[in-house]
Amino acid sequence: MSGRRHGLVIAIDGPSGAGKSTVAGQLAQRLGYRKIDTGAMYRAMAWLIDRAGIDPADVEELERLCSAAEIRLDCPNDVQRVFANGEDVTELIRTPAMSLMTSRISALKPVREAMLRAQRLMGQGGGVVLEGRDIGTVVFPDAEVKFYLFASPEERGRRRFAELAGKGEQVTQEETVAEVARRDLQDSERDLAPLRQADDAIAIDSSAIGIEEVLGIMEAAIREKISSTESVT
Ligand code: DC
Repeated sequence: MSGRRHGLVIAIDGPSGAGKSTVAGQLAQRLGYRKIDTGAMYRAMAWLIDRAGIDPADVEELERLCSAAEIRLDCPNDVQRVFANGEDVTELIRTPAMSLMTSRISALKPVREAMLRAQRLMGQGGGVVLEGRDIGTVVFPDAEVKFYLFASPEERGRRRFAELAGKGEQVTQEETVAEVARRDLQDSERDLAPLRQADDAIAIDSSAIGIEEVLGIMEAAIREKISSTESVT
């Protein structure tokens, strides 16, 4: 096993709409691990910046807000709730406008530094499934198992549209596909910790396969990792 007290660190990175959140939740449940939705943490940070009315170009103000921010992920009854400085922002951070704003502010250094510190602290003991964009490349480059989950832009746009429409958001499929494409571009072309597949990540294309199949591939890789580390100790 790893030298971590509570188990392995499992990283799941990939673009929006690839199914990371669902898969990470199921995987964490099966392993008895904690799921850490790092995108939700960036969203909560975007919400705090927006509410404080801070100009993202004002680095000093931004640093002050980020270093004092307390972002908490709670999971009562297996349903994730997100808190920003004690306020429940779970639903407020899921609008299309907040998605785009999050993608923009997540390119800023004070934001990334604060999130990096918080995520390392939450995950360092192991027994965690972290999902995001830079987990395997930057946050935990030493994660025991890394996955890169992706799907075609059309399929991701379709899934995201179904999710938003299901929540009653007034959006068209066309707008949603455009939002996903814009975020892809912003998240993969920024200078700091861009979305990228780690060299040692297992890539899984979820365009044409279901959740169970994705989970099967992941569980097999995790089992193999556990048995190979046990055989050398
Ligand atoms: O996973 P999500 O769609 O909730 O993420 C929202 C945004 O947060 C995403 O567009 C980019 C940013 N993000 C990031 O930069 N790094 C992460 N590890 C997770 C999310």
